[in-house]
Order: sequence, then C-alpha cells, then structure tokens
Amino acid sequence: MIIYLASQIIVFLTLSTICCLADLPCAYRQGDKPDRLVCVCNATYCDTIDRVPPPQDSYITYTSSKAGSRFLKGTGRIVDAVDDGNYDRVIQLYPDERYQTIHGFGGAATDAACIKWKSLPKGAQERFIESYFSKRGIEYTMIRVPVASSDFSTHPYHYNEYPENDKELTNFTYTKEDTEYKLPLIKGAMEVATDEISVVAAVWSPPMWMKVVDPGSTANRLKAEFYQTYANYHCEFVKLYEKAGVPIWGVSTSNEPINGAFMQTEFGPQDTIGWSVDQMKKWLKNNFGPTMRNCNGKKINILAMDDQRYLLPAWNVVIVGTDKEISKYVDGFAMHSYIDPYTPASIIDINMKNFPDKFVLGTEFSSKGSDSAVPLGDWGEGEVYAETILENLVSNYVGFIDWNLALDPDGGPNWAKNFVDAPIIINSTSGEFYKQPIFYVLGHFSKLIPRWSQRIKSVRQSPIHYTPDKKNIYDSTPPRKYIYDHVAFVTVRNTIVVVIANYDEAQNAAIMFGSKQVTVFLEANSIVSVEFPYSL
Ligand SMILES: *[C@@H]1O[C@H](CO)[C@@H](O)[C@H](O)[C@H]1NC(C)=O
Ligand SMILES: *[C@@H]1O[C@H](CO)[C@@H](O)[C@H](O)[C@H]1NC(C)=O
Ligand SMILES: *[C@@H]1O[C@H](CO)[C@@H](O)[C@H](O)[C@H]1NC(C)=O
Repeated sequence: MIIYLASQIIVFLTLSTICCLADLPCAYRQGDKPDRLVCVCNATYCDTIDRVPPPQDSYITYTSSKAGSRFLKGTGRIVDAVDDGNYDRVIQLYPDERYQTIHGFGGAATDAACIKWKSLPKGAQERFIESYFSKRGIEYTMIRVPVASSDFSTHPYHYNEYPENDKELTNFTYTKEDTEYKLPLIKGAMEVATDEISVVAAVWSPPMWMKVVDPGSTANRLKAEFYQTYANYHCEFVKLYEKAGVPIWGVSTSNEPINGAFMQTEFGPQDTIGWSVDQMKKWLKNNFGPTMRNCNGKKINILAMDDQRYLLPAWNVVIVGTDKEISKYVDGFAMHSYIDPYTPASIIDINMKNFPDKFVLGTEFSSKGSDSAVPLGDWGEGEVYAETILENLVSNYVGFIDWNLALDPDGGPNWAKNFVDAPIIINSTSGEFYKQPIFYVLGHFSKLIPRWSQRIKSVRQSPIHYTPDKKNIYDSTPPRKYIYDHVAFVTVRNTIVVVIANYDEAQNAAIMFGSKQVTVFLEANSIVSVEFPYSL
C-alpha cells in the first residue's frame, strides 16, 4: 500500500510538470452505505477534469474506481513489447481494422432534469453545465429532448392541445417547461461545449385529439385524418426550438411505440403512441419522411425505432428493410438498452447487414438500485453503465445518450412514479448536487472519445476474470454477463484511446500494438481510459 501511494505521488509530480491546470478534486461524501461515495458540488465548488495530451512515447491513464478514484491521472512510458506472460489481461490492438465513427455521447434534457437544475443556486447551475459539457467537464456533445412531456415531467401535456382537431396547428407555442427550464439548460450547454451539440428530439405522445384510445386499455394510435398533422407537429417543434436558438439534429419516429401498441402501461395513453406495422410504414413514407426531409428548409436526420433492441428484427424485416421508399427516409436506428441482458448483441450485427448506410445510436438508458431507485454512491450502478456502453460500442453504435441528466434524491420527479437513478442527483434543499459513480463512468467515454473517433479492432488475449455472484440490478432480469470489458479507438487528436472496465480484483493489463506495449494498473472495480500517440 505504501509503495502504491509512493508511485501515485511520483505520477502526480510527473503530471504536474507536463500539464498546467491542476484538476479540482472530488469533494467526497459518504453515500447511503459505508462503501459508497459521491462527489459533492455547490455554488462555489465542483471537481473538474482536464484532458492531458499524451507526450510522444508516453501514455496517460485516467482511473475511477469503487474505492474512490475519480479520473485519477497516471502516466508512463511506452515500451517495446515483452510477451512474458506476467499480465492478468492482455489486449491486442489492430489499428488498421476500422469500424464505426463516433458521433457523440450525451444525456436527456427532460423536464425533471431541467426543473431540478433550475432549483439550484445560480453558481451551482453553472458548475452543473460545466461538469457535463465544458472542457473541464466530461464534454458531452449530444442532448435528447422530449417534445412536450415524458413520464419525467410533473404532469402529462402536449403542444396544441387546444383548439382540438386543429389540423393547421395554430396554437403550437412554447410551454413554461421550454422557456423556464429546457431551453435555458440546452443553451447553457451550447455556450460551453467543446463541439457542436447535436440535439435529438422525440415525441412521447401528440395531443389526445389526434388519437384513438382503445376502450378499457391504454393502447392508442393516430387517427388516419391526422397523419400529416402529426408529421407537421414534429416540424413545428423544430421551428420552435430553432427560433429560440436551438437547432435540432435529429427526430425519431416516436418514443418507445411498443408501450402504446398493446401494453397496459403506467404511462397511460397521455405519454405513449402505438403504431401497427402498416400504420408506421404509411406514415413514414407518405408524411413523416417527406416532411422532415425539408423542414424549415433543412434536412433533419430521421431515427427509426427509438425502442428496445429486441425489436430491431421487426423493423428490419417488416418496416424499413422491405421498402426502399421507406428506407431512404431512415438515417439510423435509435436503441434503448433496458432489455439488453435478454437479447444478444449479435442481433445488431445480423440486422444491420441490410443497412450498410445507416447508423445505430443509443438514445436511452437508465438504471435503478434494488433497494431504492437512487442508491447514492453505488459503484455497482456505474458497472452496469460500463458494461452497457462497452457492449453498445462494440456493436457499432455511433454514440450513447443517457436518460435524465439529473434527478432528485428519490429518482424523480416522474408523474407516473417510474423513479430511476441518474448520473447527477440534485438536492434542492441544500443547493448542492451529487455526482454519482455513473457520471464518471460516462465521462471515461464521452471525454476521451471525441466526435469522429473511429473504433479499431481490439482483442482480449486472456480470459476475463469475473465474479459469478455479481449483484443483479434489476431483480427481474437475467444476471449481467460482464463479458464486455474493453473498447479501442483512433481519435481525431491522432491518439489511440482504450477504455477498460475491471469488474474484479486489482490486476494489471498489457495493451499491445505493433511492437509496442503499454502496461496499466487496474484498481479493483474500476474503469480506466488510456490515451497515447497513434504515430510512434
Ligand atoms: C461548497 O463546497 C466546498 C467544498 O466542499 C465547501 O468548502 C464549502 O463550504 C461549500 N459551500 C457551501 C455554501 O456549502
Ligand atoms: C392555446 O393553448 C393554450 C394553452 O393550452 C390555451 O390556454 C388557449 O386557450 C389555446 N388557444 C385556443 C385559441 O384554443
Ligand atoms: C439534502 O440536504 C438537506 C439539507 O442539508 C439534508 O438534510 C438532506 O439529508 C440532503 N439529502 C440528501 C439525500 O443528501
């Protein structure tokens, strides 16, 4: 332990000579159990993280761990490869074998997140925005925004609820949620972001007058006479946000249509819209596609699905894959990761073979604790995220958008009482916010894998160590597999970045590329991002 600490001090001294700004460290506080830690931020203090460009012949590591490291920096020399079998884990890189190009990482500006953000004192609001979007934060470049309400709102509502049956949408205007909460947060993010923010919008439900609700059920669908009106509803939203200075990059074909199709859900008909296959095909081809291809004089990206990945075969086989006219309107598939432990990642590869010109983007994921929705400081929540993101990235996702940017300590507000965890938990009483382990795990990807980075082939040469009695976050789902433990990219900074998750005891890992080698120490239950120059 003493030796370990000494090496940390040396690392620190070396880094301070190659870098300029010292990171502000985490202000630790115990979470809801003794082995759980959060980092506390308030109006005057918040931890920061600067990226250090790796010097020639050297690598930089960033470590976050269950024990409490938060982007702890380390450095060392790149050496000639020695295959002496002394490593717990060996990862071989093949930088010439390339896969998807990254578009970005981000989170959702739900009403819940933005209302909680606005409840903070001004200074803390700024620290929050910097933490997520700035050069001294985790540099998010994507935001998802619900069009009107989602369940993470104080009540369900829609644009143009009145007058009813108004095909021309004559009363489509800003809500209080837009002007007071969502737009200010998104514009604040755009001001400090290190790259252009791509905003992705999704409708949970149009106004009730556009829909039929099945008697005795929450299943609902669009009325035939409002197909074009519902397409225009999206374009009106694009115009509304653009007028406020927030350009929209993409829109989806409606959030989680499976919830409104035949299921009895807690979201009711107010925050769902169901589609039959035939209806979706007609609407996409005749209304939504043509409208979004020329909305406000711009081409808006169209994301199909916006639902769980087990539904991809259905969209491939019966909706998009069968009709070239429909396919031309789809730029990519948006996936939610809630049911991932049930469905193999190979589902993505198999189905996307039909769509070489389309991308896969993760548009929603969240987790919750088994005892309470928000286990404060629980590293296990971070591990669920680490594995989910790694699995998505090796399945060629071009990005990953997390769900609520922030929530309250109960995991709300949510009008349907569907409480979950978030990377930042806001305490409106004390004017503080707590960065959960999830926040740091997300940052290990978002900060170090900038837009336009390209994934390269990376192969683990040694079997993964894993603890079979791993706690299972969702009691109802099968145990997570913990088989996805690394991913590697060539970045536009002409560096290689490898992100490694360690779900086990402390160990060391060797990263091999060409005739060179980087050796990194992996703390127990940790995530480590390693960056080094690509051209040596
Ligand atoms: C803000 O946090 C810092 C660091 O933890 C602390 O020293 C300071 O007292 C806090 N300020 C307030 C007003 O709580
Ligand atoms: C426009 O919408 C607002 C908010 O729902 C409503 O109060 C108002 O009556 C609507 N105007 C018309 C003409 O229906
Ligand atoms: C929120 O702050 C209040 C006031 O400082 C404190 O009593 C309460 O325990 C805090 N809540 C959490 C979840 O930390």
